[in-house]
Amino acid sequence: MNQLIPVKDFAERRRRLMEQMAPDSIAILPSAPERTRNRDVLHPFRQDSDFQYLTGFGEPEAVLVLIPGREHGESVLFCKERNPEKELWDGFLAGPEGAIERFGMDDAFPIADIDEILPGMIEGRSRLYYPLGKDHNFDTQVMEWVQTLRAKVRSGARPPGEFVALEHLLHDLRLYKSANEIKVMARAGEISAEAHCNAMKRARKGGYEYQLEAELIHTFMSHGARSTAYPSIVGSGANGCILHYIENSAPLKEGDLVLIDAGCELECYASDITRTFPVSGRFSEPQRALYEVVLAAQYAAIDAVKPGNHWNHPHEAALKVLTQGLVELGLLDMSVDEALEKEAYRPFFMHRTGHWLGLDVHDVGDYKVGDAWRVLEPGMALTVEPGLYIAPDNSSVDERWRGIGIRIEDDVVVTRDGCRVLTDGVPKTIDAIEALMAG
Ligand code: GLY
Ligand code: MN
Ligand code: MN
Repeated sequence: MNQLIPVKDFAERRRRLMEQMAPDSIAILPSAPERTRNRDVLHPFRQDSDFQYLTGFGEPEAVLVLIPGREHGESVLFCKERNPEKELWDGFLAGPEGAIERFGMDDAFPIADIDEILPGMIEGRSRLYYPLGKDHNFDTQVMEWVQTLRAKVRSGARPPGEFVALEHLLHDLRLYKSANEIKVMARAGEISAEAHCNAMKRARKGGYEYQLEAELIHTFMSHGARSTAYPSIVGSGANGCILHYIENSAPLKEGDLVLIDAGCELECYASDITRTFPVSGRFSEPQRALYEVVLAAQYAAIDAVKPGNHWNHPHEAALKVLTQGLVELGLLDMSVDEALEKEAYRPFFMHRTGHWLGLDVHDVGDYKVGDAWRVLEPGMALTVEPGLYIAPDNSSVDERWRGIGIRIEDDVVVTRDGCRVLTDGVPKTIDAIEALMAG
């Protein structure tokens, strides 16, 4: 059950979505499927983010149907019936009664009856919104319901003629976070920041990357965040240059940096923090020099997160500082303007400076409107995460730089006059990191 997002918020989201739907339309949205891990073992269930956003209902085998103007209720949930014997094995089910009483649905039915009931609800609606093309099985399922109606046109049935991807409307709603969503995301950020602090304190030579991962998970769970938002990245030494390194199995060596990119998930909301720190607790001179460049780039990018600026402004700000740093330190042998023009920074910084953040770590929402970058508005949440990665075999730079990977990532929400950093509970200046690790 959700604690931080009240039931009325989910009803309000459904209302806002229906407001934008055509009046004689219907929307159909399935829960996530359960996925097999091996033989008869399932992965822990994670609700589909769109479904979660509109229902807060955490069970599989459920379908939400939104029918604007329906007399007997606009929000309808199909879900598993209560069953004491099954519940003894697999845990509590809300049942259709619980869907109404506890999740604020207007109407609810057993999922076993959906094939009989749903075609009648679709009948007479000219437009059908659903997650078109997302799941092959569900596409087939929807078309079967529609076929049922098409078979009856000579008896007067009116099947829908228009099929529209639900995401267009829904993902734009999800892009703007409400005050309650920001509260959950801030709490997730706080927990993740504490986890990063604990990992820094735990780091020592002879330990293993996965032991730091264990520290992160311990802190997440201790605070009620039962899952990570994505597999934690704990890369020491040159592993820090592998962007999606999740093996996390190498020993920590004196003199190496450790790059940790990890965040917990709270009530399905993601946090996403990266910090880079020395195993020994003290940065070496080359590490320090590169780190200062990345940190300056991150500050510049955060400064550029404000209403009126567009999506690419923080990235441009970061690129400028990173490139300047690479030129000043002698890793690029050309002018800053030329390096920017030729994108000569690319071997050292090959990803974007951020992404939308929300129910998904790489959250939904368009980055462009037409050909133009999206303008930042209050309530939008994003990450700011510049980095520099000097490949261990990059023979074009002096040896002392090689194998150093650094990223600094925070989560921010656009406010009326700038942005709020949700993840400042973990230090990022060199002095503050060294002080924490010495303490
Ligand atoms: N942890 C995934 C990312 O930073 O984008
Ligand atoms: Mn990250
Ligand atoms: Mn990120």
